Amino acid sequence: MPIIVTSRKKFDTEISKRAAEICDQIILEMGAELHDDLIQKLSIFRLYIDRLERSVHDPAETETLLINMRTDFEGVIQSVRRISRKLLPEHTNHDSLNTSINLLCKSLERPGLGNIYFETTGNEEAIPPVSRIYLYRIIQELIHNAFKHSSAWHVWVRLKWKAKHLSIEVEDDGSGFNKISEFIERLRKKNNTLKLRSTVIGAIISYHHGEKGLLARIEYDF
Ligand SMILES: Nc1ncnc2c1ncn2[C@@H]1O[C@H](COP(=O)(O)OP(=O)(O)OP(=O)(O)O)[C@@H](O)[C@H]1O
Ligand SMILES: [Mg+2]
Repeated sequence: MPIIVTSRKKFDTEISKRAAEICDQIILEMGAELHDDLIQKLSIFRLYIDRLERSVHDPAETETLLINMRTDFEGVIQSVRRISRKLLPEHTNHDSLNTSINLLCKSLERPGLGNIYFETTGNEEAIPPVSRIYLYRIIQELIHNAFKHSSAWHVWVRLKWKAKHLSIEVEDDGSGFNKISEFIERLRKKNNTLKLRSTVIGAIISYHHGEKGLLARIEYDF
């Protein structure tokens, strides 16, 4: 079956290329997060130490400083946790798809700016590792798209397990009704990684009008 082999090869080459681009993007994001968030938060601690030194003879001031330091230190821990989650090779561990998607949702959430709700129904079943990785990447890209292209405040990620069938939905609330048809058309036509990855694992991806935004659905038989 030479045609299938050739097209599979083409898919894999294209996906490797896009994967490398995504890695560059993640490194950039990490750099920005380290610079804008973590370094700022740690710099404050130098000021705290100076102020602590000066407050040696003022126990009330020392106590106030310690309370503030404790709260800010919690923020530092959260920053490091967020960065480490993004750097962890999520799919290489032995977590279930439900668990990795739940962690993915947590790592992409932007408290106060963009909430992600993860819901799952039915009993999870084992699926081939390649499919697990590709479905993970598809969901990741759909969430990225929701925050990048719409003004979504909320994203819902749903995994519905049935016997030998998994249905995945990613829905956002960020686009007006009138615009959705245009976005759906664009996504249907584009030969993007969403389409490539779905084709490789034999899943079907489709786009619909959600309640307040775009609804992407993946149907996968295993
Ligand atoms: N959640 C969404 N809401 C509104 N429009 C969307 C959404 N997702 C995708 N689109 C539209 O569909 C287009 C195609 O999305 P696609 O992910 O293929 O490319 P991209 O995000 O523009 O580029 P890349 O993924 O390569 O960074 C987008 O440019 C955007 O116009
Ligand atoms: Mg995109």
